Amino acid sequence: MIEDNKENRDHSLERGRATLIFSLKNEVGGLIKALKIFQENHVNLLHIESRKSKRRNSEFEIFVDCDINREQLNDIFHLLKSHTNALSVNPADNFTLKEDGLETVPWFPKKISDLDLCANRVLMYGSELDADHPGFKDNVYRKRRKYFADLAMNYKYVTGRIKMLQSFTLCTGEDFACIFLLCFAERTGFSIRPVAGYLSPRDFLSGLAFRVFHCTQYVRHSSDPLYTPEPDTCHELLGHVPLLAEPSFAQFSQEIGLASLGASEEAVQKLATCYFFTVEFGLCKQDGQLRVFGAGLLSSISELKHALSGHAKVKPFDPKITCKQECLITTFQDVYFVSESFEDAKEKMREFTRTIKRPFGVKYNPYTRSIQILKDIKSITSAMNELRHDLDVVSDSLAKISRQSVI
Ligand SMILES: [Fe+2]
Repeated sequence: MIEDNKENRDHSLERGRATLIFSLKNEVGGLIKALKIFQENHVNLLHIESRKSKRRNSEFEIFVDCDINREQLNDIFHLLKSHTNALSVNPADNFTLKEDGLETVPWFPKKISDLDLCANRVLMYGSELDADHPGFKDNVYRKRRKYFADLAMNYKYVTGRIKMLQSFTLCTGEDFACIFLLCFAERTGFSIRPVAGYLSPRDFLSGLAFRVFHCTQYVRHSSDPLYTPEPDTCHELLGHVPLLAEPSFAQFSQEIGLASLGASEEAVQKLATCYFFTVEFGLCKQDGQLRVFGAGLLSSISELKHALSGHAKVKPFDPKITCKQECLITTFQDVYFVSESFEDAKEKMREFTRTIKRPFGVKYNPYTRSIQILKDIKSITSAMNELRHDLDVVSDSLAKISRQSVI
């Protein structure tokens, strides 16, 4: 019984190191009020830094490194949000967990609602725009962007599901999007969740492990409809979503996500580069001809033409080589990689991910939408029993078919 409790203990008590970044208005006592939140929650601070905010001149940004458990992290994040402008919480790169039989590994989400802790760690853009963004001088556009960024930052897995179901049941004006997403989920189980801007490769890939695709909601600025310096909703809905409704491609995407969970920073970068040159800029063959499946190409007319022009450099997709290629954001890629098929790309990625060192295996449980960590005989036996049942069903069905063909 004690063993069971240990096995099923609440992940909220896992301890680790986390970095919180929040901004303070330049007012007397603001920092003391914020730090008191840490003191009252018995959190040990390891390092503090302050700097003038690059976003708002009148504010200061505070970086706090602390030793914390997940429950405290959650509480503090919400308390800081109500007292300050909480920018981000970053457990993934630094937060480590120690479990029996596991070496120290980077924190990763274990259940789908854990994605709430990853999805608002936006690295770029979000509600603010850089001076070279086409919409920088357009106040109406920026106000709209802030509206979408706030929606994404406040989105929570459970309330999001309830709102979607309510909208579906009540038949409001937002039905189209919900029905569309439910159809999408019926095809492959993938769902999309709002995000305010760029996530780190680790946070983005961890969503794929749960068949969750982080999706921007804003549209590029009207002054330059053929160019966007960042993913926008045209890129997401025209480029990514149709392919995520394709079972083989969905599986390929999820397997990259699963391989990233708890992997080293170097391994995550390699996986992200393979993702970039397949899901974003990948080519494949069909009836002997080159075809495009990368969303970055599908949503960029000029680069699409260039990639298929016959002048672009094209190499066979090989994760060992592809993972070393430089990803270019503001210019065309130096080279594109072609796969024979999604199945072929999946096989090559499987072979590659087996070379990534990680002291445990992971398996996605679609019933609980959680990650099973395969780290000892007990967890592996449990996974094998589930597989055995699936194999029994398949073998029974085969026996029935062969009996019918004899008759
Ligand atoms: Fe994309």
